Amino acid sequence: MKINTFRKNILIHKTSCLAIGKFEGRGEDGIIEEIDHALDGMISEVISKGDFKGKSNQTVVLYTNGKVAAERILMVGLGKRKDFSIDKLREAAGTAVTAVKKMGVSKLSTTLHILPSEMFNPAELGQAVAEGALLSNYSFDELKTDKEEKKNKLRTLSLVLPLNHKGMKELKAGSARGEKISEGVCFARDLISRPGNVVTPSYLADAAKKMAGGSDVNVTVIDKRGMEELGMGALLGVAKGSKQPPKLIIAEYKGAAEKDERPYVIVGKAITFDSGGISLKPSAAMHEMKMDMSGGAAALGAIKVAEALKIPRNVIAIVPSAENLPSGEACKPGDVLTSMSGLTIEVQNTDAEGRLILADALTYAKRCNPKAVVDIATLTGACLIALGTHATGLMGNNEQLKHQLLKAGEETGERLWELPLWEPYKKQIESDIADVKNVGGREAGTITAAAFLEKFASKYHWAHLDIAGTAWSGKDRPYIPKGAAGVGVRLLTRFLENV
Ligand code: BES
Ligand code: ZN
Ligand code: ZN
Repeated sequence: MKINTFRKNILIHKTSCLAIGKFEGRGEDGIIEEIDHALDGMISEVISKGDFKGKSNQTVVLYTNGKVAAERILMVGLGKRKDFSIDKLREAAGTAVTAVKKMGVSKLSTTLHILPSEMFNPAELGQAVAEGALLSNYSFDELKTDKEEKKNKLRTLSLVLPLNHKGMKELKAGSARGEKISEGVCFARDLISRPGNVVTPSYLADAAKKMAGGSDVNVTVIDKRGMEELGMGALLGVAKGSKQPPKLIIAEYKGAAEKDERPYVIVGKAITFDSGGISLKPSAAMHEMKMDMSGGAAALGAIKVAEALKIPRNVIAIVPSAENLPSGEACKPGDVLTSMSGLTIEVQNTDAEGRLILADALTYAKRCNPKAVVDIATLTGACLIALGTHATGLMGNNEQLKHQLLKAGEETGERLWELPLWEPYKKQIESDIADVKNVGGREAGTITAAAFLEKFASKYHWAHLDIAGTAWSGKDRPYIPKGAAGVGVRLLTRFLENV
């Protein structure tokens, strides 16, 4: 989808559809009054008849009969003015695009970005509208052979500004940023959506190299031999049941003015398929576990965006990748693995594999002399139960780092909620025969998983993001179509920009 920006008197702007935003209730809505007047009160009428109240993401279409140059007006509800946020605007843009796609219109114009100009600066508005539109226009259809199904996408979005508007340059710059960020999110979504027979650890390593090609990102891949030399017994233990060899993907972007500035390290879990291993998962929803590499996809997506935006920081993504399958050679419950850190791990459940591959990746991260390490992982079903699909779980060993992440979450609408990583929880992962065990019982499963990771992340500032609930959407949302959310890319990008 192409986004363009220009100034024009909206009443004479020719387009098949013009989307305008409306708050709930009464209020001075400059543009709406102007259009309503030109339409002989058509807008006032749908409101007075009760067909349109302006509730969040409500829509109604009006046919203009030539009274203004636009063929249709799409009214989009913005909700209550006092509850408005930049995420509501992102949603409104997503809602507009979804509505227009259903009508089969391929070009949309909008003034959505003008309404709340007193609340946000033009750059923020441009970015939010671009993100909302592009992210809702996403669909994963490369495996569909029916071309008809692919057609239904918006091709052009025009952001129209009034003739006297001052912030056009900023709006344009914001929208260009939104495009680059959305590209990173959709890159992650594609990787997550592709099935497990396509996306293997080797595929992911190649995809990272391809992404880096011709850019300022450097990718190195440590293969099985390299892992053996490094003593990565935990990562190797998980990979043992599969014919697909594991890969440790390292993508490095050096944007800092000082080339040797300490980097921010993002560690992303990339289990390309999680069957549970010998502790086999129930079959009903097992197919969804192709998304168990969402953390790795987010880490690579964030590097891609950091490079595209030339963020002035050094950033390294470390993505441990393996396939978790049962076989005659697979790791068994009760086995003890020796991790790269030297700590021994009793594997009581082979389905708690994410923390095992992360353990070695977190140990490896120490070599980068990191300013901070953030790991991101679809780690525990317990997190989905605790927080549902609207918040990512946050834990860590450093207050400032957690605060920076929480702030980035608020700003991007990818919200985080902290869980307590208190001392008593750590008892739950004590093993009788090894240094630690990989499960902590039914209680507080998200926290005991983090307590496990903390043992390997103890020598630097570290935070852990559990995206088990947020990585996948079971239904269409305003700018997250059903399926892979690509969560984490926008959050991590904003975090890197803020620090
Ligand atoms: N990949 C899963 C966690 C998951 C569950 C992600 C649902 C997304 C949606 C993880 O590897 C896992 O299976 N965890 C176990 C841990 C348990 C055995 C301690 C779980 O959550 O059941
Ligand atoms: Zn698992
Ligand atoms: Zn898993």
